[in-house]
Amino acid sequence: MARVLVAHGPNLSRLGSREPEVYGTATLADIESALSERAGSRMELSFAQTDDEATLVGLMHTALDTGTHVILNPAAFTHYSYALRDACAMVTQAGLVLIEVHLSNPHAREEFRHHSVISGVATGVIAGFGPDSYLLALDHLTTLVGEK
Ligand code: DQA
Repeated sequence: MARVLVAHGPNLSRLGSREPEVYGTATLADIESALSERAGSRMELSFAQTDDEATLVGLMHTALDTGTHVILNPAAFTHYSYALRDACAMVTQAGLVLIEVHLSNPHAREEFRHHSVISGVATGVIAGFGPDSYLLALDHLTTLVGEK
């Protein structure tokens, strides 16, 4: 069965109370349980959230080493972490799928959010659909690599 790591970057542990007008009221636990339900027995999901850049880079290394596809919300690292970009590039260059997701639409927000250093090495990007961004990413992954 295909393995998928769902990784969330900094401050996403605060979903539910963090800027609900931007990110909605669903918590990370809500999002993860919706993903588990959607995956059923078709995909083996694992979850991680970290505020630490080095830890997130390490998670990409582990995904690479274990042949695990990735759904990644890089949060603020999206906009400036070349280290995370380089780690993501190794994942996709190995033929694994890495989908960048965002709850909000960064292009409709402050200018510094308009550029992603991750997108250029991601398989694809889904943004602006709240928690559904993650579910759409999982649906696409299931189509690409999942069990029928
Ligand atoms: C985010 C958008 C980023 O700009 C921001 O720094 C986040 C969350 C999103 O999911 O909309 O922390 O990645």
